Amino acid sequence: MSSPPRILVTGATGRLGQLLVPRLLARGAGVRALTRHPARANGLRAQGAATAVGDFDDGDTLRRALEGVSHLFLLSPITPTLADQQIAVIEAAAAAGVERIVKLSGSHWTIDPPGRSLSGDAHREIEAALRRSGIAHRVLRPNAWMQVMLARVASELAAGDELHAPPGDPKVAFIDARDIADVAVEALFEQPASHEASPEPWVLTGGSALGYDEIASIASRLTGRRIVATPLSAQAQQQRQAANAPSPYIARVHAQFAALIVAGEAEPVSDTVADVLGRPPRTVEAFLAETVAGRVPA
Ligand SMILES: NC(=O)c1ccc[n+]([C@@H]2O[C@H](COP(=O)([O-])OP(=O)(O)OC[C@H]3O[C@@H](n4cnc5c(N)ncnc54)[C@H](OP(=O)(O)O)[C@@H]3O)[C@@H](O)[C@H]2O)c1
Repeated sequence: MSSPPRILVTGATGRLGQLLVPRLLARGAGVRALTRHPARANGLRAQGAATAVGDFDDGDTLRRALEGVSHLFLLSPITPTLADQQIAVIEAAAAAGVERIVKLSGSHWTIDPPGRSLSGDAHREIEAALRRSGIAHRVLRPNAWMQVMLARVASELAAGDELHAPPGDPKVAFIDARDIADVAVEALFEQPASHEASPEPWVLTGGSALGYDEIASIASRLTGRRIVATPLSAQAQQQRQAANAPSPYIARVHAQFAALIVAGEAEPVSDTVADVLGRPPRTVEAFLAETVAGRVPA
């Protein structure tokens, strides 16, 4: 690559975007962070990113945000309009002459086979649009993030010696979102082979799959207390998810994830993180050690 990429990062102010932007700046990329609310990007601006105020639902703002951009990182939250919004960004990127797109997709097991996850099907539709666009690209399909699925561990350990587990104690190959950000940097800097019209998605997982009994054992070692994993009944889990979901749509999406996880779909481990980064993935043990030490890993 002759000159540093000029990258528009969508979802820049979110969980993953905030990890990605400083990593891209450290590699010398020019970064423009898309946000609807400029104040949310204050921290990113302080680190050296530029901001583009824009909305996936407003084509004019997308066109302005994409002016002079060579690379696009494509991420948006799960909503009923996920596919429409991301396809609008891909079309705007094609019109702006963007050379490379890295798309943060859904977990592999929500996408393949089709028809079992609302968000997985939307991501699948977007991936197809990306292939049709003819733009060089890489799709990232990360497994369940530690920062999301294990976020409640800190508060549960503060409240007592019990960790709530999904029914059936399934194993999950959790991935640390910082590894996803590290891989995303490499994907953005990747030199595409000219024959790769439809490059394989990168399926990203942690290095091993753990059940909640094992997570409780790790927590016991780290705290010096006897922590036990208590599986929720399927009904209790559903009620909990419905109570925590911001909308009935998200409650449905989460119920689909839960059923697939209980069926063991999130257990398989891939080598992609180690292959791309040349080091093993971060571990649940290291993540929980930071959590227990009160340094909740972003
Ligand atoms: N959590 C997991 O275990 C997991 C696993 C696999 C895949 N994923 C995927 O991860 C993605 C979510 O990532 P995340 O958790 O980092 O997201 P997040 O924290 O929810 O952040 C959402 C971002 O999207 C931006 N945004 C929302 N609506 C927008 C709009 N209309 N126009 C422009 N920007 C908009 C927000 O920006 P402003 O508010 O600043 O405008 C914010 O930066 C989803 O696509 C999901 O499928 C998650």
